[in-house]
Amino acid sequence: MHIKALLSHHIESAFAELNLQGAAMVQAASRAEFGDYQANGVMAAAKRAGLNPREVATAVISRLQSNSAFTEIVGAMDVAGPGFINLTLSPHFVAPALNASIQTSTEPKVVVVDYSAPNLAKEMHVGHLRTTIIGDCVVRVLEAQGHTVIRQNHVGDWGTQFGMLLTYLADSGNDSDELADLENFYRAAKQRFDADNDFQERSRQAVVALQSGDSGALAQWQRFIDISMSHCQHIYDRLGITLSADDIMGESAYNEDLAGVITSLAEAGLLQESEGAACVFLDQFKNKDGDIQPVIVRKSDGGYLYATTDLAAVTHRTQRLGADRVLYFVDARQSLHFKQIFAVAKAAGFASEQSSLEHLPFGTMLGKDGKPFKTRQGGIIKLAELLDEAERRAAELVREKNPDISPDQLQNLAKVIGLGAVKYADLSKNRTSDYVFDWDQMLSFDGNTSPYLQYAYSRIQSLLTKARVDPRELPQQTVAVDEPERRLAVCIAGFNDVLQQVADEGFPHYLCAYLYELATRFTTFYEQCPILNSEADQRLRRLTLAHSTGTTLAAGLNLLGIGVVDHM
Ligand code: ARG
Repeated sequence: MHIKALLSHHIESAFAELNLQGAAMVQAASRAEFGDYQANGVMAAAKRAGLNPREVATAVISRLQSNSAFTEIVGAMDVAGPGFINLTLSPHFVAPALNASIQTSTEPKVVVVDYSAPNLAKEMHVGHLRTTIIGDCVVRVLEAQGHTVIRQNHVGDWGTQFGMLLTYLADSGNDSDELADLENFYRAAKQRFDADNDFQERSRQAVVALQSGDSGALAQWQRFIDISMSHCQHIYDRLGITLSADDIMGESAYNEDLAGVITSLAEAGLLQESEGAACVFLDQFKNKDGDIQPVIVRKSDGGYLYATTDLAAVTHRTQRLGADRVLYFVDARQSLHFKQIFAVAKAAGFASEQSSLEHLPFGTMLGKDGKPFKTRQGGIIKLAELLDEAERRAAELVREKNPDISPDQLQNLAKVIGLGAVKYADLSKNRTSDYVFDWDQMLSFDGNTSPYLQYAYSRIQSLLTKARVDPRELPQQTVAVDEPERRLAVCIAGFNDVLQQVADEGFPHYLCAYLYELATRFTTFYEQCPILNSEADQRLRRLTLAHSTGTTLAAGLNLLGIGVVDHM
């Protein structure tokens, strides 16, 4: 059930009957005393018609009161402030929505999601965390809604860094199958590259050899890729990320398509030469002085760029994969790049007008000092080490609360709580801003954190155990009677609304805020509505609500890629 859409539909019909124009603008109420939902659209509609907004709101309400379909949904409504309409849902209406089932979309789409995309021959570091976690959550939500999701891991597996590495290994006679060694070799290669012209030139030739299909170079390159990807896959598995080897579609995969990109741009009349480089000039990319900033697609030495590969990728995704939407979960610092790629792709007809190309940017992870998150020595934090620390810190917490726990249980809890905390800390913030990585905050059992939600879930499981009920025998729905019950039920019923928002806008923090609200309402309910010692009807009703809260929490956390446990 999509409550907001349903309410909007009826309210907008009332608008139409009153010859008003505008959207109902329904939102979850900001405070409990405003009811469950509020419609904010009356003010704008009244203004447009030159009418008094409070009078219009009263007229809308009287229309709605004579609409029996609406009065089955809404138990009470009133005008507030300058012309808001506050709506309180009827407990009968929300009763069937208590089973936490995810509604599938009536318009299933093909959605390509580009996320994670680490650069190979290096270990994954904190810089890859946000794209990986946020992208995977949105992928899970879209799939749960029945969309066809095609993951594309656009790994950086091509270009100068591999030329350097190949040349360095040939020169030094070094080699290894360990990623950590390769990373050190790469660092040394980079130093030499910056200092030594001859090395630079030979590295460039190695790239050319690679790009033109030299079998020796390719075999060695393939080995680096395999070593790197098995490291990445290990991190994905550990973090519960749904990416697999099948989703890899790295930069190298577009090698054969790059020349064609240039030809197509020329055919579309978009290509211009500037200082020997092939460029696209589009009017919308003027700098402060009014000069157009070109998108360079081929350098004067014939080399292709990151942008060229992304243009080939757009064509692949929209034309071969048939994407209706392509979502890019990439750092906000690449915003201009994507604006340019999307504009060129549309102008050249690589993507049709209907296909939606969406850059979903995110900010930087900061340390407590407000600067980009680094090790104490100022080095890059490796993802594997960060996850180790999360588990270690969670294990300490669990042991404190639970000194007699078995080693196996401890390990499992530390993993579920520690990794959940890291993921939730990221997912619960609006992705567009930078966020401060803070161990104490994310592992706290209070506030909008994953341990708080996991704890709420486990508390519900022990309640059900204590009540000696088999959850499968509880009814699928129940009609709330007391106000804390009703508020809890209304919140549970809003699950699909929030999933729709996440699917449309790619903001997982909506889902986090929802789950936190749900857990908070559950706490109020639990404090105010005795369960185990209440009389039979009441007991059954409240157990049903508690169970339904538990399944919704677990389903929501699962979409965030976070696990739950029965005992904490
Ligand atoms: N490998 C790139 C980086 O680390 C991210 C790739 C994002 N996806 C894309 N289609 N450009 O910056």
